Order: sequence, then C-alpha cells, then structure tokens
Amino acid sequence: MDFFTVKWDDGVVVLLDQTRLPAEEVYLSCESVDDVVAAIRRLSVRGAPAIGVAGAYGAALAAHLSETTDPAAFRAEIEPELTKLREARPTAVNLAWAVDHVRRVLDSVADRPVPTQREAVLAEARRIHEEDAEACRALGRHGAELLPDAGTVLTHCNAGALATGGRGTALAVIYAAVEAGKRIHVFADETRPLLQGARLTAWECGRMGVPVTVLCDNAAGSLLARGEVDCIVVGSDRIAANGDVANKIGTYPLAVLAREHGVPFYVAAPTSTIDLATLTGAGIPIEERAADEVTTPRGLRITPEGVPALNPAFDVTPNALVAAIVTERGVARAPYEESLRRLLED
Ligand code: MRU
Repeated sequence: MDFFTVKWDDGVVVLLDQTRLPAEEVYLSCESVDDVVAAIRRLSVRGAPAIGVAGAYGAALAAHLSETTDPAAFRAEIEPELTKLREARPTAVNLAWAVDHVRRVLDSVADRPVPTQREAVLAEARRIHEEDAEACRALGRHGAELLPDAGTVLTHCNAGALATGGRGTALAVIYAAVEAGKRIHVFADETRPLLQGARLTAWECGRMGVPVTVLCDNAAGSLLARGEVDCIVVGSDRIAANGDVANKIGTYPLAVLAREHGVPFYVAAPTSTIDLATLTGAGIPIEERAADEVTTPRGLRITPEGVPALNPAFDVTPNALVAAIVTERGVARAPYEESLRRLLED
C-alpha cells in the first residue's frame, strides 16, 4: 500500500484526511488530544477499527503531553482526555474498546514512574494497531473462501484500509480473494450523505488495483433483481451478542434486498467489533449527525432553506439476515449467541 490511514510519528498522530479524498491526498498532523477528537468527529479518520487505533494513539498523545512527574497526578491529568477520546463517536465500539484497553494497562502500571507509564500507553497503542493489521489479514483469508471464483461483490460505505489499521474488513476479504486468483468486480454504493463509497472505496480499490463501479445507493435493488450481484460484504461498527449488526446507514435495506433475492449477505469485522455486553441491536447507540450533512453536501445546498433533515449515521441489521460474520478467528454462523461467544472464548 502506498498510503497510510493513521500513524504515530514521534509525538504526533498523523492521519490521511479522508474528508479531502479523492481530490487531495493530504496528511493531517494532530498535536493535541483535541486535534484527534476533532479529526474523529469530522471523519478525517473514520471506520470503526481506524478510530480505535486513532483513539489509542490519542491516549498516547495525552500521556506524551503530560508534564507531571507524579504518577498519581499523571493518571488524574490524562483521565479526562481518555474520556473525551472515548466519547468522540458513540456507535463504533472499537473506540471505547481501545480506550478501555489503555485504561487497563494504566491500572497495571499505576505505581510505576511516569516515563514507564507513558511508554506503556504508547506500547499498547502500537499493539492495538499491529493486532488490527494482523486481524485484517486473517479475516480477509477466511472471508475470501466465501466469495465466488469469478463474480461481483457489492459493498457499502468504506470498510477498507482507510477504515482500519490494516487492509480493511469487507475490502480485505475482496483483496484476499483477488490475491487467491478470484476474478472479483466490486460494486461500491455511493453511501449518502458523506459518500464514503463513491469517494473512499472507489479511490482505495483504484489504488489496490481492484476493478470497481460506483452505484447510487438506490440502484442496488434493481441490480440485485437482475441477478447482477453475487454477494454483499460489509463491515460493522458494533456487533451485539446476538449477532445484530450496526453499520453505516443504508446497510439494513441491503440485507433485506439480499434476502429477497437469495444473495448471501456477509459481515466482516475483527473481534474488537463484537460487544457481548450489548445483548441485541436495540442496545446499540446510533449516532445522529448534523442535518447539514444531508441538506448541504460538500457545501452545496440541495434542500429548501428551513426544511429539517434526519441524519442517523448507522442502522442495525437483524441477525436473521446475516449469512455469516467473518472475523480473524474464523467464520461465525447462526445461532450467533453461541458462535460469537465461542469465537471470543477461544
Ligand atoms: O461514519 P463512518 O465512515 O465511520 O462509518 C464507517 C462504517 O460504517 C464502516 O462500514 C464500519 O466502520 C466498518 S469499517 C471496517
């Protein structure tokens, strides 16, 4: 890959600014925790695993910037920064998961000198990043076996390298299949309102040398009805204990269409996206974003002044519509209460 999504560079968190793709490839340097929080909120870095990695490096930045030499004061000083990072976006559990991992590491070194605590936070952030990259590779290999030797795969939003610390989830499955010699053509839903499919998946597939065609979101149904889609693979922001899946708004209708047309609907995600503490999809918090993302996309007003707009960023697909959940530890199938718990126990 000749780009990166997020990295730690000697006390600076550097991000590829995804709000500017595909027109410009600009890297953003975050020199404070507030910079990282703002970048996560505005979607300069986005995608569940990627915001987990960015959150962990944000914690490392908080530790790096603290000037105290007193271990107890150190923890007290960075704790509000960790909370800010954890709450930057609510739906993707990977962000809370990553910050909670950092907190546990801090608990385990609480009586150690500040430089040791600081190093422990950075080491944990690097570990989270590396493990995510490894998970992407492994889940890609598992998922590739589910794809046809030649055919079309429809995906929604961007669940690729841009959304993770590695080569992606849904797109990693496609990359692994292509590397295994399968001839796959990607249909990328444009993904209103922020166009992660049209802007990001199309850009990324181009960079990875995978053929891609962009569709308006509302074209997916007729393509499926004509038998032009062999399977659907999407990522996820949070998977409840019963296998209900939260992902970018517009995912649920795709799953309904897939069922109607007898096309398998697969979800690819690392186990860090599985939240056994949330029993069903009804318990997943759904982020509501600003109405102007709908009314005024990229600065162009498309609705009359004064008309309200709804902008839920995610929806929940019930487990009954999910053919399989592909993780780095293997492929889970229904009943998901059992298969997901078993995957996490192994
Ligand atoms: O709002 P976004 O762009 O962060 O939403 C991202 C998605 O919905 C992805 O499909 C999901 O995070 C999985 S990324 C591997």
